[in-house]
Amino acid sequence: MTKDFLSIADLNRDEVFELLALTDSLKVQKDVKPLSGKTVAMIFQKPSLRTRVSFEVGIIQLGGQGIFLTDEGVGLGVRESAADVANVVSRFNDAIVARVFSHQLLLDLAKHATVPVINALSDLSHPCQIMADLYTIRQHNKLRDHVKIAYVGDGNNIVNSWLELSSIIPIHLTLAIPFGYEPNKIIFDKAVNAKVSKIEIIRDPKNAVNKADVVYTDTWTSMGKEQEKTKRIYDFWEYQVNSSLLRHATKDVIVMHCLPAHRGEEITDEALDGKQSVVNDQAENRLHIQKAIMAKLIGKL
Ligand code: CP
Ligand code: NVA
Repeated sequence: MTKDFLSIADLNRDEVFELLALTDSLKVQKDVKPLSGKTVAMIFQKPSLRTRVSFEVGIIQLGGQGIFLTDEGVGLGVRESAADVANVVSRFNDAIVARVFSHQLLLDLAKHATVPVINALSDLSHPCQIMADLYTIRQHNKLRDHVKIAYVGDGNNIVNSWLELSSIIPIHLTLAIPFGYEPNKIIFDKAVNAKVSKIEIIRDPKNAVNKADVVYTDTWTSMGKEQEKTKRIYDFWEYQVNSSLLRHATKDVIVMHCLPAHRGEEITDEALDGKQSVVNDQAENRLHIQKAIMAKLIGKL
C-alpha cells in the first residue's frame, strides 16, 4: 500500500481484497498488537461519533494509543499551516488520522508528514466508510461482479468514494441524484472511463433502484453545507428511501446508510429500522476495516 490512505484510488484490486481478508483475520485474532508502543494523532475539524470512536477503539485494540485533537486546539491551516502541523505531529506520533473540511488540507498534511495520514472524511471523499461498506456487502453475501448498488440522494463525498471503488472492482452503480447535485466531475469521468463498472445517473429514483441488490442513501445536507439545508430539503424531497421506493428493488435488498441519518428526510424510520437495514453492521465494520488499514500502514503487518 502507499504511505497514506487518502482515497480509495490509493488502492489496487489486490490491496482491496487483502484488506478484506486482513479484516477477517483481525476479527478473530484479538492478541495481534501491531500498534504496540505507537501513538496516533487524530485531528478532527468536524463532529463525529462513528469515526472517532471506531478509530480510538481500534487503536487501543491494536495495542496503541490515540490522541484526539479538536480543531479549536490545533487551528489546522489557520493557527498553523498544514505543512507545519504535519512536520511537528510526525515528530511525536506514528500516524495522523484527519477529518477535514477541505480535501486539500489532507493532501498538504500527507505531503509533509513523515508518518502515514489516513482520511477520516473530507469534503471530497470518505474512503474508510466505503471500505467498511464493501465489507458489509460481502458479509451479507451480496458481493459478486456487477452487484447492483443504487444510491439515492446527494452526489457527495460518499458517492465520490463509491465511484473510486467502481474503478477497481466491477459493480453496477446507479445514481439517483437531482440536477445540480452531481458528484465530482473529475472522479465521475475517471470512473466511467475506467470501464470496470457500469455507472449511470438516473434521475428517477424508482428506475434507479429497479432490481437493486443494495439501496444506499446519505444525508441531503453534509457537514459544511448547513446554510443550504432549507433549499436542499426542497430539492431532494423526491429522493427519499422509504418502503414504497424499496418495493422496486430486489426482494432481499439490503438498505445502507453511513449515518448519521436524518429520519423523515433522506430515509424513513421504517426503512432505517426495517429488517433489510444493515446500517449498524456498517457502523461496526468501521472498526474492523480501519484496524486492518492501520495494521497495514502503521503496524506494517
Ligand atoms: N459515518 C460516519 O463517518 O459517522 P461519523 O460522522 O459519526 O463519524
Ligand atoms: N456526507 C456526510 C457523511 C457523514 C458521515 C457528510 O459529509 O456530512
